[in-house]
Amino acid sequence: MMLESRPENMKRIDSPELAQAYVEERIAMLREQIGEKKVLLALSGGVDSSVVAALLIRAIGKQLTCVHVNHGLLRKGEPEQVIRVFREEMNANLIYVDAVDRFLDKLAGVADPEQKRRVIGREFIEVFAEEARKLDGISFLGQGTIWPDILESEAGIKAHHNAGGLPEDLRFELVEPVRILFKDEVRMVGRALGLPESMVERQPFPGPGLGVRCPGAITRDRLEAVRESDAILREEFAAAGLAGKVWQYFTVVPDFRSTGIREGKRTFEWPVIVRAINTTDAMSATVEELPFALMQKLVSRITNEVKGVNRVLYDFTPKPCATIEYE
Ligand code: XMP
Repeated sequence: MMLESRPENMKRIDSPELAQAYVEERIAMLREQIGEKKVLLALSGGVDSSVVAALLIRAIGKQLTCVHVNHGLLRKGEPEQVIRVFREEMNANLIYVDAVDRFLDKLAGVADPEQKRRVIGREFIEVFAEEARKLDGISFLGQGTIWPDILESEAGIKAHHNAGGLPEDLRFELVEPVRILFKDEVRMVGRALGLPESMVERQPFPGPGLGVRCPGAITRDRLEAVRESDAILREEFAAAGLAGKVWQYFTVVPDFRSTGIREGKRTFEWPVIVRAINTTDAMSATVEELPFALMQKLVSRITNEVKGVNRVLYDFTPKPCATIEYE
């Protein structure tokens, strides 16, 4: 097990040169650690696992197998981007698992937020384990653990055992090449590895994905409304120059309907709630003051383009007393 700790006097990686030096050093260390053996990695497409994948591809090429599980709760375009970047551009061994129906069937009728998280977590481990068992000769498991994960685990704030749930026969030795880095350093290293800016600069996205933004029991139509409205929000934030400026922004589609009117006829449809917050540590958050013109554009596009939606609301509540996510 690789249990390297961040040296107390380690220089912050804050320039492309230092990031490049880190990449070179890690590649040598990974080659030394892994030799001719094989590594398996769950690649979500998030910053940490993407950087780990890119490092491992540079170090050991096809000795790495990446598994990307599409659980149906990813944002619009994400699985396509993972396939494009890693399989097509980086020529990686990438197994894409379409588990959408499997997850959504298991989640049908599950309304309790914690139960939803458990179902998603359990199913993920099951799908990943099934894929791992199809492969021969895997010795290592790659993980995108980063330094704040270690600090939070030690402080008892969060349990970070990404692969902790894997069954006994799949307890591989861990490879954690960004373990000693802070998030901004991981992004720097990602850039040095040539990952696209849209991947390196991705805003935080919870493990249970859009599932926690579709409060209550998830239905496919309401989930689609979350996905489509989120895509519009991201497009409009990018167009308004807010994409790298606001810490986290997303949409939520609650499970209630209200009356509206369209082409002279009564409608009875969902609202879309827009959330846009700023924070440094996600422990507390303030609400972004959105330009009114942007809000009007969002209302117009979302109510015209997203099926089943007749209102757009803005959540003005800071954390505390509201959390950032809705579940
Ligand atoms: P809350 O809602 O607790 O969110 O104010 C704080 C930050 O954590 C993210 N978040 C999660 N991330 N799994 C994750 O990996 C989760 O279950 C989860 N819940 C919330 C949230 O997006 C925000 O950045």
